[in-house]
Amino acid sequence: MIVGVPKEIKPNENRVGITPAGVMEFVHHGHEVIIEKNAGVGSGIEDEEYIKAGAKIVNSAKEVFDNAEMVMKVKEPQPVEIEMIKEGQIIYTYLHLAPDRPQTLGLMEKKAVAIAYETIEVDGKLPLLEPMSEVAGKMASIMAAYYLAKPYGGRGVLAGGVTGVHSAKFVVLGGGTAGLNAAKVASGMGASVFVLDINAERLRYLEDVLPKNCQMIMSNKFAIAEEVKDADVVIGTVLIPGARTPRLITRDMLKTMKKGAVIVDVSIDQGGCVETSHPTTHQDPVFEVDGILHYCVANMPGAYARTSTFALTNATLKYGLLIADLGWKEAARQFEPIKKGLNVVLGKVTCKPVAEAHGLEYTPAEELLK
Ligand SMILES: NC(=O)c1ccc[n+]([C@@H]2O[C@H](COP(=O)([O-])OP(=O)(O)OC[C@H]3O[C@@H](n4cnc5c(N)ncnc54)[C@H](O)[C@@H]3O)[C@@H](O)[C@H]2O)c1
Repeated sequence: MIVGVPKEIKPNENRVGITPAGVMEFVHHGHEVIIEKNAGVGSGIEDEEYIKAGAKIVNSAKEVFDNAEMVMKVKEPQPVEIEMIKEGQIIYTYLHLAPDRPQTLGLMEKKAVAIAYETIEVDGKLPLLEPMSEVAGKMASIMAAYYLAKPYGGRGVLAGGVTGVHSAKFVVLGGGTAGLNAAKVASGMGASVFVLDINAERLRYLEDVLPKNCQMIMSNKFAIAEEVKDADVVIGTVLIPGARTPRLITRDMLKTMKKGAVIVDVSIDQGGCVETSHPTTHQDPVFEVDGILHYCVANMPGAYARTSTFALTNATLKYGLLIADLGWKEAARQFEPIKKGLNVVLGKVTCKPVAEAHGLEYTPAEELLK
């Protein structure tokens, strides 16, 4: 199969859909890889590295779309990219179609085989979303520690304290992938960390894997209100799959918090868990409400593009190889996670939530795999 990787064109997107290691794997499996020139520069990967791994560099995205049987990307295809899609071409990338009707209709009209990273599911988990939550979680504690500094609007508290002086109190709401990683970094800096989750089994697991300067607490309205009062940092990482994030911190609660405390609302991409949150960008990441600094960047991993590219492609490669080796149909027949990834296939919507979101007819993927 010919696998093509164009340069990402969404504003501020520096990730790329494949690394040289990924190229080498595809080539080893007998496939051909074509990559648009300079596709990797945002992630610190030069064309030469791809060439050494066995890829061919082409001059334009058009050449990629004209020749590839499978296009591997990071972000959803932009309108100019949808224009270039060929009938039956596999588009393997993050799609997020439920809130995006024009893209859904575009992929249907082009009769693409669109496989979404975010709906590939294994044992109830989403392995192609997890690496980005790891990046965002680790980054949340770094950003919080930075903005705690006085010149940036914070309380002037050093996360880990020093001899004879209290360390900062970090409260992490949600102990899933992002929460665990936020707690790892905060505890590594020497902060006092409190992780709240509603899942007792998860709390028990966190108790086992996190160090002694982390305490696990059952999450409920009372506990959250108590814990945030004397927090220097609150990191919001709660998620209820398929639903809007619950607003666990109300505006009234901000008034009970210490001035100059920092909130990092990682869950902002699902609406945020703080009433006063609104999405921000890397160019203008923070704002203040009632003396509390809010950091609410909706695409945090974009800041660490190189790490994020390698983390993402580590997760996407396995399924990409199966699709290339077997073809999309046979790969989806044999592997349930790939079947779950099918969102739009040859003009039909094969992902129920996407069909429901847009009032379009839903066709179970099985019907197209016969
Ligand atoms: N801003 C960004 O750039 C960025 C990047 C990656 C992920 N995210 C977002 O981060 C969020 C977390 O992702 P994740 O992969 O860690 O999810 P996850 O499913 O692994 O973890 C969510 C946790 O929240 C817990 N939870 C649910 N309701 C709760 C409540 N009331 N109180 C306390 N805990 C509660 C769940 O039990 C679960 O353990 C998601 O919204 C995700 O989209 C944002």
